[in-house]
Amino acid sequence: MDQTLLATTAAAMVAKGKGILAADESSGTCETRFKSVGVECTEENRRIYRGLLLTTPGVEQFVSGVILFDETIRQKTDDGVPFAGYLAKKGIIPGIKVDKGAQALPLCPGEKVTEGLDGLPKRLDEYFRLGARFAKWRAVITIGDAIPTHTCLYANAHALARYAAACQEASIVPVIEPEVLLDGAHSIERCEEVTEAALRATYAALAAHNVAFEHTILKASMVVSGKSHSRQAGVDEVAERSVRVLKRTVPAAQPGVVFLSGGQSDASATAHLNAMAAMKGLPWPLTFSYSRALQNPALKTWKGQSGNIVAAQKAFHHRARMNGLACQGKWKPELEQQAA
Ligand code: 13P
Repeated sequence: MDQTLLATTAAAMVAKGKGILAADESSGTCETRFKSVGVECTEENRRIYRGLLLTTPGVEQFVSGVILFDETIRQKTDDGVPFAGYLAKKGIIPGIKVDKGAQALPLCPGEKVTEGLDGLPKRLDEYFRLGARFAKWRAVITIGDAIPTHTCLYANAHALARYAAACQEASIVPVIEPEVLLDGAHSIERCEEVTEAALRATYAALAAHNVAFEHTILKASMVVSGKSHSRQAGVDEVAERSVRVLKRTVPAAQPGVVFLSGGQSDASATAHLNAMAAMKGLPWPLTFSYSRALQNPALKTWKGQSGNIVAAQKAFHHRARMNGLACQGKWKPELEQQAA
């Protein structure tokens, strides 16, 4: 275990003005996203699309790291350079999704637990050799009638902790993602309560497994109103509640917190991050680790056509720049209108 490398990687992931691009969609998720713009989800199309994002000129100003999928870390640019090596040369840290997805949790109807611990140390060693310096594991917490249960929160926290310990032993920084889904008719108060419970369970498990908080990054979901709840909280309320929960649960020793976008609109994800990052006296930097809220405009512009690649890269660059400002609390809605 190289503790110096772990500390350097974690600090670089949350460097000022930068955040993370999540480009680790499984092939199934990719299929849904590609279908929405009429693109066939072949291995080559996935390579072309990820290549478009990763080779966007100048994006390294705003992107500190990219979470890759197993397939992508083995793929190459059009010029035959492995994506991980290409990114590292640009000063972007390659990361890797290592969980095997959320599966039904037995005896807990409607709940899931994330799998992928079997053989994980061996896979981590290979990913390190392929250039990955951080990893991601996503737990999924659903809010509904009488859920999440204690069982679900603790099963997922336990898996996150075992994953994080294995990562640190392999000199890979674990990104710990207990995602509370925004789907549902619950209130923002309920989301706050569940997010706090999920984070408490996660940090208790991390401590029990001897994970060094200094060498972890939290990937948090924001505290928002359930998608179909009648009252949709405004930007300030989301920011206030999200930060309050983090302050109650996340150790100050942690180098940084990154957020997922979780199905929020691009504009909301940016506005929420901006409002939180503008708050004074937080013990950790806050930034983005978005998939949809960074990629949506690029995907819609690309539509699988090589002639659209430059325009798609511009759209991606714009969202990366906006979120690069937002993570410093320097974003304003009027900046959206200005060309890159
Ligand atoms: P979204 O930003 O689209 O929620 O994806 C982030 C992510 O990596 C989820 O695991």
